[in-house]
Amino acid sequence: GGFDPTTQKAVWPSTGNYCRGGAYDAALLGCESVAILPQEMSRERFDWLKKIGSEIIATPGCESNVKEIYDKCWELKKERGDKVVILNQFDEFGNCMWHYAVTASAIDEVLRSQLGPKDHLFAYISATGSAGTIGAGDRLKELYPHMKVVASEALQCPTLYNNGYGAHRIEGIGDKHIPWIHNVKNTDVVTAIDDEACMHVMRLFNEDAGKTYLSELGVNKDVIERLSLMGISGIGNMLSAVKTAKHFELTERDVLFTIFTDSMEMYGSRLDEERARLGAYSHEKAAVDWNRHLAGFGTDHLQELTYADRKRIHNLKYFTWVEQQGKDVAELNAQWYDREYFPNHLRRADEYDRMIAEFNKEVGL
Ligand SMILES: Cc1ncc(COP(=O)(O)O)c(C=O)c1O
Repeated sequence: GGFDPTTQKAVWPSTGNYCRGGAYDAALLGCESVAILPQEMSRERFDWLKKIGSEIIATPGCESNVKEIYDKCWELKKERGDKVVILNQFDEFGNCMWHYAVTASAIDEVLRSQLGPKDHLFAYISATGSAGTIGAGDRLKELYPHMKVVASEALQCPTLYNNGYGAHRIEGIGDKHIPWIHNVKNTDVVTAIDDEACMHVMRLFNEDAGKTYLSELGVNKDVIERLSLMGISGIGNMLSAVKTAKHFELTERDVLFTIFTDSMEMYGSRLDEERARLGAYSHEKAAVDWNRHLAGFGTDHLQELTYADRKRIHNLKYFTWVEQQGKDVAELNAQWYDREYFPNHLRRADEYDRMIAEFNKEVGL
């Protein structure tokens, strides 16, 4: 009820995919939208947004420059007042609630069909951008209480790992801050993944010489054909899973579940850039990439979080959310001390469904 499409524009601040989803929904509903994203995001994202007819605002920097996106939101609010409604995925509980209800149910369904009697789910692994997807971990822990939740980010911007900052190339994740909706107390492990490894594996999986090499190793043809279903952050998640498996010395009975958030559809231009930077791909390069970044991928930059580590990460929210974005410090404390805070925000799918049904009835859908 807070948005009137006849007089207002929906604003979708993001590093790329969320604003694509928002602009798409707006187009379907016949509303106008504004997509805000950093200017260095992949060319395919901008082309796509232009096609869908969204107003596009490019802010300075790359993936990890989310502060600049927030600044632009405040500026828009000041300039256009009630003519815009900001839908901020980083503090919108509907985001992680959806993954708690829907993504976790889908994962559970897959696990039920795949786990043998002696298998067990060891961990759910998710990179964090807005910390929506990792919200599925909260539900999975209720269903599989012994399991761990592993959060991944880029080694070049290791905010969870060591309060670090920096530019990186794993588009969609790791934005130099902790999203308001991230239930940090439920995160057990952090891995920081080198973006250079992701770019090399992207080439191995998508260049002809890479695919030939994989097929010589005996990788099934159907699997090779589907490797392009993994975008850069999907590759990062897969590498995080490899790291986790090695660190915890997992066996074939231990199952890891991770997510491929998008596919190579958005990254053809990144492959071209890598060709220009490092030359044509070859059998030798494929062998190096396989051995260095997959078979030989190490257990470095993985941290099992203690209570104090989690508190350190949680405390970072103060600077972004209380100091910069005007959140209440009492609510920040509730996120840490009130055991009901996150369950109350996450177990609301039925309420949302009711509101959607009411809305549809009201507008005659
Ligand atoms: C490609 C990509 N990977 C990972 C993520 C991270 O997901 P989340 O924002 O749910 O943490 C996003 C988010 O938009 C994304 O676009």
